[in-house]
This record gives sequence, C-alpha cells and structure tokens, in this order.
Amino acid sequence: MKKAIIKGFGKTDQLDIVDLSIPSIKEQEVLVRVVAASVNPKDTFIRKGRYKALTGSRFPMGVGFDYSGIVEQSNISAFQKGDAVFGMVNGWAGKTFAEFVAVGKNEISHAPKNIELTDAASIPLVAQTALQALRDIGKIKEGFHVCINGASGGVGTMAIQIAKSFGAIVTTLTSPANFDLCKSLGADFSLDYADKTVTKTQYDIYFDVFGNQSFQSVKNLLSKKGVYISTVPSKRLLWRQFFINPFSNQKAALVIVQSKYHQLEWIKKLIELDKLKPIIDSIYPFTDIVNAQSRVESKRTKGKVVVTIN
Ligand SMILES: NC(=O)c1ccc[n+]([C@@H]2O[C@H](COP(=O)([O-])OP(=O)(O)OC[C@H]3O[C@@H](n4cnc5c(N)ncnc54)[C@H](OP(=O)(O)O)[C@@H]3O)[C@@H](O)[C@H]2O)c1
Repeated sequence: MKKAIIKGFGKTDQLDIVDLSIPSIKEQEVLVRVVAASVNPKDTFIRKGRYKALTGSRFPMGVGFDYSGIVEQSNISAFQKGDAVFGMVNGWAGKTFAEFVAVGKNEISHAPKNIELTDAASIPLVAQTALQALRDIGKIKEGFHVCINGASGGVGTMAIQIAKSFGAIVTTLTSPANFDLCKSLGADFSLDYADKTVTKTQYDIYFDVFGNQSFQSVKNLLSKKGVYISTVPSKRLLWRQFFINPFSNQKAALVIVQSKYHQLEWIKKLIELDKLKPIIDSIYPFTDIVNAQSRVESKRTKGKVVVTIN
C-alpha cells in the first residue's frame, strides 16, 4: 500500500510516499481503508522535529492523525466490514496518510451519516480538542461568556460551534477577513486580534487556540472564576496549572487532546443534529501532500486542509 512518511526532520522535502505492506490488526483493532485524512499543525511540528523527545528519531516515520474511511477487517464487534468510520489516532506516531490504517477502540467511531467522508476526516482531532477544552476543562454552561482567540482555524471553527451548542455567548478574535465566517458559525461578537481596544466583557472561558496569549495577559478579562485554556504548552502555564490553580479562583490550563470513543460519538451526534459542520479550507490529492502541509504552515487557513487518499 502507499503510505506517506518523513525521511528525517526538516522541511517538506522530507515528505515522501512509499510502498509498504498493509498493517495487520491485533485484538480490539480495526483495519480501515482510508478515504481521506486531514492535516494538523501537529503533523508539521513533528516533521520539523519540535517534538523529538516524544516521537523519537526512527525513520521512516508515519504522518497524520485524522482519518475517515471504510472498515476492511475488524476485531471489534461494533464495527463490520464495509462500515463508514472516522477517527483520530492517539500518541506521537502518525500513520493515517496511508491507504490502510490499523486503529484501536478509542480511535474510531461510525461516521456521521449526513456529511461526506472527505469532510468527516477534517473533524476528529480539532473537535475533540475544542470539546475537551470547553467542556472537560472549562465546565462550559449555558450563558457562559467564552472568548476564542484564533477562531477561524481548525480548532477555532469547531470551538465556536461547540460553545454555541452549550448556549454560551461567544466572542471571536480573528483578522477582519474572517468575521463573516465566525458569525456564520454562530459567534455573537467578532473582534480583530490586532485591535487593542479593551472589552468590558468578563469571560468565564478564554480559549487561546492560537496560543500567543498567556494567563497574565488575559487575567483582567477573566471573570472571578474564569479559566484561561491554551493549546500550546509553556513552563509558566504548567507551573501555574499545577502549583497556583489549587489556591486561585481563576485557573489556567493546557488542553492535551486524547481520542476517546464516547467523545467521537458525541461529536458524530452533534454533526447529525446539524449543530456542527465541517469547515474545509482546501482539498488536495494524496500526491500533493507537500502543498497540503505548506498550506497549514501558512497559518492562514479557514478551517481545515483535507487530503484525499482512496
Ligand atoms: N494541545 C493540543 O492538544 C492541541 C490540539 C489541537 C491543536 N493544537 C494547537 O493549536 C494551535 C491551533 O491549531 P489549529 O488546527 O486551529 O491551527 P490552524 O487551523 O492552522 O489555525 C489557522 C488560523 O490561525 C489564525 N491566526 C493566525 N495568526 C493569528 C494571530 N496572531 N492571532 C490569532 N489567530 C491567528 C488564522 O486566522 P487569521 O487568518 O484570521 O489570522 C487562521 O485561521 C496549533 O498550534 C496546534 O498545534 C494543540
């Protein structure tokens, strides 16, 4: 089968598509014939070696965490050959940019019935990140004021819709070119992140999706029990999360996305209720994986970049 790999750490010229054998599945695993996979900034950071300590340095290294496809072979009774599925693989070993992928029970769900599999591949990692940040960490409730910084990318477009599904009042921070997109997804207020005008709103959750703020820089925008959540780790954030949070009403936390079966199922239901829709920036053929990754590296995408495999 064809599989995308990186030959070493570096630029996109390290990407290649090679012939490898189809993976065999163990107990509680499913073999999926991949229809589409989507690109996340994580894929590009791994290629550049930013997470070397976690990925190790053994090459060739697989690429990609999100996928959609058709079950080819199953050792999990809930999934049968021919079922349409989507999901995200856990850990630091990417592998979904391939004609076949073996996945475990927390990495797969039946695909939503009302969208194309190509679109479904854009959702699992970013929607689970938004759900885990807003619901599991932020304890979002109806009427919460939520601010989303970097709202027009993969995670942000999911976060707007998920926050609205809980009945929150959502403010988005983007460039003005993306105001209409955010409003179309339900945002109540859209602000330009370059405009330093201070808002009077006290946010119950400040979700720093882009990750260029800090607890200190938004502290005055948080409500008395407000929480600052970032997608990007820093020593300062982790120190505050573990040593200051227990003594402070206002909290700071890092979200680290983990794929879980029941969360994929929750997301699938939200899509089928038409409360969560995929936002696709662009679609590339498998042979054009280099341009697909370059597009994500531009940091200018509206929603997600998808790659069609089969
Ligand atoms: N910790 C975790 O578990 C986890 C999970 C998922 C993602 N992440 C991280 O979260 C970050 C975002 O991921 P993503 O998939 O949403 O990325 P993405 O889709 O590549 O984000 C692109 C968006 O970033 C916006 N942006 C660019 N410059 C900005 C700025 N200065 N301020 C605010 N927004 C800006 C752009 O909007 P404009 O064009 O309007 O500027 C664009 O729409 C990445 O660093 C990713 O690695 C972490």
